[in-house]
Amino acid sequence: MRSTHVNGVKIAYELHGKGEPVLFVHGFPLSRRLWKHLVGPLQDRYTLIMPDFRGMGDSDATAAATMADYADDLAGLLDAIGENRRVVVVGLSMGGYIAFEFFRRHGERVRALVLADTKADADTPEAAKGRLETAEKVKAGGSAVVAEAMTPKLFAKSADKALIEEWRGVMAATKPEGVVAALSALASRPDSTGTLGQIRVPTLIVVGEEDGITPPASSKAMHDGILGSKLEIISGAGHMTPVEKPREFVAAMRSFLDSLE
Ligand code: MLT
Repeated sequence: MRSTHVNGVKIAYELHGKGEPVLFVHGFPLSRRLWKHLVGPLQDRYTLIMPDFRGMGDSDATAAATMADYADDLAGLLDAIGENRRVVVVGLSMGGYIAFEFFRRHGERVRALVLADTKADADTPEAAKGRLETAEKVKAGGSAVVAEAMTPKLFAKSADKALIEEWRGVMAATKPEGVVAALSALASRPDSTGTLGQIRVPTLIVVGEEDGITPPASSKAMHDGILGSKLEIISGAGHMTPVEKPREFVAAMRSFLDSLE
């Protein structure tokens, strides 16, 4: 693991491989471990930049954060490591919401997009209210509150028990301050539906067929909205496609990345 200070916050990251740069943005409340199966198969041809975003994994937390902060941290990280080429941005779920914000704020740095198990729409008022209530519970009861609430929703029916327990542990170990800040950022995030029509870079959309958090219908809506985008629906996967069906996820990524050359 490496780390650097970006916008006054310590950001932990991994850097692997050589070649065109690919920036990976995990979901909530997860960590860069989400991408572990991609390193072996992709590092021979690509530079893989895998941060924990602010408040998650080994990165430091701040009391408050917005989607703009997370997006600017990514741009700051690229600057800090001297990466000035355009990058392929891969975002899963909240990582996709951050990828949209990165596209709006730093679009000139985006070579292509991979939107995995995510959606363009903002929270409904009820969903946003629920997030803020959850944040209060996390302040009192720690991150286990979120781990228990989310674990049953993340995986396909056939998912391996050990895999589910691994991720329950990752979520429970996330800093409560980071979880609280992210819940508020999620609740107040902008709607990205209007951004879809502005995306003119190659885009791959991937979703697990059994994703109950950002279901295939949300991916189909993004596919309809993004000109020339490609949609891959992976069977036997829920919301955690890169760890539930790594081989299929890698194959979709590899053929997309290779097609960019
Ligand atoms: C995620 O996986 O990043 C979150 O579940 C996204 C969300 O709650 O909207």
